[in-house]
Amino acid sequence: MSWLKEMAGGEAPAPYKEPAGPSEAKVKDPAIPNRMVSTKTANKPFLAYKEYREKQERLHNKWVEKKKERDEKIARGEKVGPLERDPTAEEEVGLLGLLKFLVYLLLFVALTGKFITGSYLWESDSKWLHLKTYIPTNQRLFSERQLALFDGSDPMKPIYLAIDGDVYDVSSGKAYKPGGSYHILAGVDAARAFATGCFVDHRTHDIRGLSERELKGLQHWKTFFAEHKTYTKVGKVSHPPIDPASPIPESCRTPKGDKKEAEAKQTKPDEAQPKPPSHTQSKQHAEHQEL
Ligand code: HEM
Repeated sequence: MSWLKEMAGGEAPAPYKEPAGPSEAKVKDPAIPNRMVSTKTANKPFLAYKEYREKQERLHNKWVEKKKERDEKIARGEKVGPLERDPTAEEEVGLLGLLKFLVYLLLFVALTGKFITGSYLWESDSKWLHLKTYIPTNQRLFSERQLALFDGSDPMKPIYLAIDGDVYDVSSGKAYKPGGSYHILAGVDAARAFATGCFVDHRTHDIRGLSERELKGLQHWKTFFAEHKTYTKVGKVSHPPIDPASPIPESCRTPKGDKKEAEAKQTKPDEAQPKPPSHTQSKQHAEHQEL
């Protein structure tokens, strides 16, 4: 670990040694000339430092001497070897030293993670640990019609969905493929459905009149897509402005009367699709129940 020693400024001063006889029990004060101080324990660090300084000075003077000799030889036109490094010169850490330190630190963290959790990344699934997060993708502005072309019906095209204006490539999600439980969300900005769960009635970006709880749910899904490790943002979708005078989409959860009918609608988001998968099937279940 010589690099560590270098970074700390070289060798540590040797501990102060007690003078041989009792008559020598007093030494010169390193701070005030002509004053003698005792070699009692409390003074030892100062005395050790004094010894160290003196040793450094001797080394430096020796080096200056050698350098002078070398310069004289050069002046006489004699051949000389390379200039020796001043042994007392302060070592600079420098960029390379810092980089080295960071590499060792990362290695240490990764190996500790492997030892403790069995994963070099401490079992983290964060998108920040995936290379693709740092590779910029071509962002595109979609119209609603253009976005609809990416609903998975063309197997040659990727599958895109939008949420509150942001378009994501979700081709890696099985649920969005034709026949998948959430195919109804593909090729469209169904921000409202993400908030309310009304997949059929709320296939719209119109989020007027949502409750605080629903807005929280929407935010949950926005973060879900933004931080997903295999979905990538591919652009934005531009929507025509919503007429403020137009009615707010009604909730599919009717309070009374045809409640059963509404529930049936809920569990069958897309008539052409199978029912949403049972909650016991996936890890996402836990996340959903929080909504
Ligand atoms: C506000 C209500 C809900 C919304 C907005 C919603 C939305 C979603 C979305 C977007 C996915 C796909 C996640 C991905 O890309 O991996 C998903 C997956 C899933 N959801 Fe929901 N969900 C809701 C309620 C439910 C309910 C009530 C159930 C249970 C009946 C359910 C069961 C599942 C299951 C099992 C998956 C995994 C599907 C798979 O990976 O194939 N969800 N949900």
